[in-house]
Amino acid sequence: MTTMTAPTTTGTMKALVQEGRGSADVLHLRDVPIPQVLEGRVLVRMRAASVNALDWHATHGWPSPGQPVRGVDIAGVIEAVGPGVTRFKPGDEVFGSAPASLAEYVRARESALLPKPPDLSFEAASTLSVAGPTALQALRDHAQVKPGQRVLIDGAGGGVGTFTVQIAKAMGAHVTAVTGPRNVDVITSLGADEVVDRSKEDYTRRRERYDVVVDIAATRSVGSIRGVLKPAGILVQVGASKKGGWIGIFARIVSLLVRKRLGQRVTFVVQKSGTEDLVHLLELIKAGRLRPVIDRTYPLAEAREAIRYVGTGEARAKVVVTN
Ligand SMILES: NC(=O)c1ccc[n+]([C@@H]2O[C@H](COP(=O)([O-])OP(=O)(O)OC[C@H]3O[C@@H](n4cnc5c(N)ncnc54)[C@H](OP(=O)(O)O)[C@@H]3O)[C@@H](O)[C@H]2O)c1
Repeated sequence: MTTMTAPTTTGTMKALVQEGRGSADVLHLRDVPIPQVLEGRVLVRMRAASVNALDWHATHGWPSPGQPVRGVDIAGVIEAVGPGVTRFKPGDEVFGSAPASLAEYVRARESALLPKPPDLSFEAASTLSVAGPTALQALRDHAQVKPGQRVLIDGAGGGVGTFTVQIAKAMGAHVTAVTGPRNVDVITSLGADEVVDRSKEDYTRRRERYDVVVDIAATRSVGSIRGVLKPAGILVQVGASKKGGWIGIFARIVSLLVRKRLGQRVTFVVQKSGTEDLVHLLELIKAGRLRPVIDRTYPLAEAREAIRYVGTGEARAKVVVTN
């Protein structure tokens, strides 16, 4: 049966609006109209929204036509449902993907949300929808990791990285995690078999060879990473450097495509959205094999500082904005 509830929320709300491009200084908390609830959409009162590198990249010049409010994932409470919505009703606790989530109210597709398990906090749930599936798809779909394989993860300390380390362990891999000195302890606590402090060691000069390298940090050349792969090994590119902007990202992709044409095993992850992988991640959490790691939380009024902090490269795992 179709549940129809007329939107009850009108007026304005606070949202983190991007005005121009550049540093986090272009972000401002503004009063904007509360989104209208449309067919197949729900209005969610945001309780937590995590910051992703994507927000930082958008602020620094990725185009966002018609979409000035930052944020891409959310956990919160359904405020109103639009025509055709059947799975949710006002008051339900949900999490998932939604554009413009750094705001008091967020419009989301019904199909992009899942019920939030009662024993998972809003903060933890908000970390999952971008970083979690990216890690899972890198390991399962691109690398097709098998138990016992040796997997090296560069950039293990970030949002995607902390999920990648734990999921690789859950898949039975032997995990070597490369991170900065600040994150060595937390990565060790996540179960990595070996943690390399990149301030002390350049992993591309190691003698050891790996079945899989998952490159999240994107600071080493594709050629030097190839040097630590086994002959049939695969480089899974996830990250884009925060230096160089669009040109840096484009140059990386070209380098990967050239290698691929030479018959080398390289692949570039483009995260596929959908809730199936979130279901899988919830199962891992329930089984005690995955835990979202949260570095800092910021109130919505300070969301700009959350994005600035992620841009410093000093953030550990996930940074979350709450409301
Ligand atoms: N391909 C896709 O579909 C997809 C999806 C989501 C994200 N991404 C990309 O994946 C990357 C990570 O995203 P995120 O949301 O996890 O961002 P994040 O939480 O900000 O993580 C930043 C990453 O950069 C590394 N890093 C920071 N400073 C560094 C330095 N000085 N040298 C080397 N590495 C450094 C961090 O590793 P340590 O802390 O270990 O140093 C961490 O892995 C971003 O480039 C993002 O654009 C791609």
